[in-house]
Amino acid sequence: MTKGYKMPKGFLWGGAVAAHQVEGGWQEGGKGVSIADTMRAGENGVPRVEDAEVLPGKVYPNHWGVEFYSHYKEDIKLFAEMGFKAFRTSIAWTRIYPNGDEAVPNEAGLAFYDDLFAELHKYNIEPIVTLSHFEMPMHLVKAYGGFANRKVVDCFTKFAETCFRRYHDQVKYWMTFNEINNQTSWRDPHPLLQNSGLILKASDNWEEKMFQAAHLEFVASAQTVQIAHAIDPTLKVGDMIAFNPIYPLTARPEDVLYCQRAMDYRYYFGDVMATGEYPAWIKKYWARKGYDVGITAADEAILKAGAVDFVGFSYYNSAVVKYADDNPDLDFDEASNQEKNPYVPRSDWGWQIDPVGLRYSINWMTARWHKPMMIVENGFGAFDKVEKDGSVHDDYRIKYLADHLLQAEKAVAEDGADLIGYCPWSAIDVVSASTGEMKKRYGFIYVDADDQGHGTWKRSRKDSFNWYKQVIASDGADL
Ligand code: BG6
Repeated sequence: MTKGYKMPKGFLWGGAVAAHQVEGGWQEGGKGVSIADTMRAGENGVPRVEDAEVLPGKVYPNHWGVEFYSHYKEDIKLFAEMGFKAFRTSIAWTRIYPNGDEAVPNEAGLAFYDDLFAELHKYNIEPIVTLSHFEMPMHLVKAYGGFANRKVVDCFTKFAETCFRRYHDQVKYWMTFNEINNQTSWRDPHPLLQNSGLILKASDNWEEKMFQAAHLEFVASAQTVQIAHAIDPTLKVGDMIAFNPIYPLTARPEDVLYCQRAMDYRYYFGDVMATGEYPAWIKKYWARKGYDVGITAADEAILKAGAVDFVGFSYYNSAVVKYADDNPDLDFDEASNQEKNPYVPRSDWGWQIDPVGLRYSINWMTARWHKPMMIVENGFGAFDKVEKDGSVHDDYRIKYLADHLLQAEKAVAEDGADLIGYCPWSAIDVVSASTGEMKKRYGFIYVDADDQGHGTWKRSRKDSFNWYKQVIASDGADL
């Protein structure tokens, strides 16, 4: 159905994945062990187990992903058939620096991405690359404690510099840390490990540790921006924020004020990375809590000089909070502040589906950060059914994406947002990051494999594949 809106010329239509969720080949080409390689699968409500090392007899879904490492040419051909202008993936840090702290990079790993980027350019597909997408070398966690240690800032910036020097002619769009703000769920060990490589003791103050690690990531990110521009001024480096707008449950002024604090808390990451400064409220918050985040004057100068060029963000759902009378200081605790929104439906995994929230989010970010924006994830995780003839009728996914795209188009056409790309999650089925499941599928392309890694790995086009092809061909007019 034609809705009348279109994205502007040159818009980066594409799709997204992350290395550890698709590549497999976890021991190919000298690759080291990442935190994703020692993570077993969980399921909805059952957390993934992180082992300190790969244990015999245990199942690690990221060891195979969807075998993209050996299928990427076939997959990119399918992306081209859909009309992709862009493809977002990450570089597995452990392919380039297997342990993370080596003096010289691993040539076989570098060569793999040379080939991957060349293959994309063969079809005029622009690579968009995340440097750190939940796949830190395990050695950096064990030897240094991840981003609890400034040594890891140096390891990261060295990795980033290696990538910029090698690929700056092939890759113009970069992002530093995927969904850096997921760690506001700091009561859950999973995001702390995925984002920051933190494994904490029960006696640690987890919230303070989160603030400290995030600070070192901001410093690493700001240095990375400066390194990129020094190597090649045409490079654009963005942050990557998991954006879930938070609404107040009612119009009660306390609910609205508390909601404002919740948004401040979840998105101060974007404030620091887009403006180069911490907001005033957070310094008051740390002082009240007695936190020492370890910020030096030199760090502040680095942050100021390394603001990002654009805001990359994921959008899946929205959230609702309510003020509690025993919380007059407005302390936001993500784990206990998730109310149900009676106005929006939920996915099988309980995610609240809210297309209008995407337009709201784009406008909120525009007003706050004044940067070009790119939607680098948006999608619908669902159980897909393969029919006897091999087809997958994923009309629920088409509806989700069409409804969200329409709102993004309105944000551009009606509100004047500077949105430069749309890379839905995911270009092809992937292993889920939060649960490690294969059966929670997001892709336009179905991959024949199950949660245990059994299957033929055969690729086939879902109905959403043909739908998205027509969307791209019409620049988003034909949703
Ligand atoms: C984001 C991540 O959290 O959402 C992806 O950047 C992830 O890596 C995606 O796969 C969907 O989440 P999940 O947990 O359903 O895979």
